[in-house]
Amino acid sequence: MLLKDMLAVVTGGSSGIGLAAAERFVSEGARVAISGRDAQKLQRAAEKLGEHALPVIADAASPGDMRRLYETAVGHFQRDVNVVVANAGVSRQTPVRETSLEQFSDVLGINVGGVYATVREALPFLARPASIILVASLAANQGTKNFSAYCASKAAVVSLAKSFAAEFVESGIRVNSISPGVANTPIFDTLGISEAQLLQWSNVIPMKRPAEPAEIASAILFLASDASRYMTGADLAVDGGMSGISPF
Ligand SMILES: NC(=O)c1ccc[n+]([C@@H]2O[C@H](COP(=O)([O-])OP(=O)(O)OC[C@H]3O[C@@H](n4cnc5c(N)ncnc54)[C@H](OP(=O)(O)O)[C@@H]3O)[C@@H](O)[C@H]2O)c1
Repeated sequence: MLLKDMLAVVTGGSSGIGLAAAERFVSEGARVAISGRDAQKLQRAAEKLGEHALPVIADAASPGDMRRLYETAVGHFQRDVNVVVANAGVSRQTPVRETSLEQFSDVLGINVGGVYATVREALPFLARPASIILVASLAANQGTKNFSAYCASKAAVVSLAKSFAAEFVESGIRVNSISPGVANTPIFDTLGISEAQLLQWSNVIPMKRPAEPAEIASAILFLASDASRYMTGADLAVDGGMSGISPF
């Protein structure tokens, strides 16, 4: 078991990639605290995960909520935090001409401010060694029409992982990011993206299909575990070949 008796905290653990990571962690022997804003969704996820999971309602963009998340998790499981997955994030279509600065800031506030608060508030609660994984995106490196706020936010997440890694390398805290391509999760339900559009996206993926959340979770588990102990400040692409293979 790769995470036997370890404590992992997964933000946005009630759905999609975060829930798949939490499931994988539990199957590898970890105790897991999962967070999200929607109480019902979070409760359903916790029931699916079983007795080793603790649901905590918390907004990732609120430093006070994040502090309470770590205090609650450490108090409940009576151990320090070994793994943090800063996964909570939103995607919105934000065509430049139709998007206000407030709407732009909202995406950045959750996707970048939320990651910053998740990591900053974790520091007093971390075991040594500890592993922090930031969930970025292929979008960090690819301009995408109507998604400038999301792309900018994910570029910032990749950058944050590298600076956090530099700052914490001597304290036994590793920080890496992971960049999924397209994964089959409920995030697309909120975007108004048609089936036809999703099919079109799948056709440009060299592997010709989106990832299942469990496939992203496997890579998150690798970064969480001792198997990646010589990695810090890296960004791991898990994208069916999209970033590495030319379409020509
Ligand atoms: N699916 C993809 O193709 C893909 C590709 C690349 C990267 N990603 C990234 O992967 C991460 C997970 O996405 P997903 O696809 O699994 O989406 P998802 O199924 O919609 O899950 C998102 C999770 O984040 C939580 N969340 C959102 N805003 C939050 C906030 N302010 N505070 C706390 N929790 C919050 C949601 O719960 P509540 O709404 O209840 O708060 C939910 O649990 C995101 O960072 C996303 O950008 C996804």
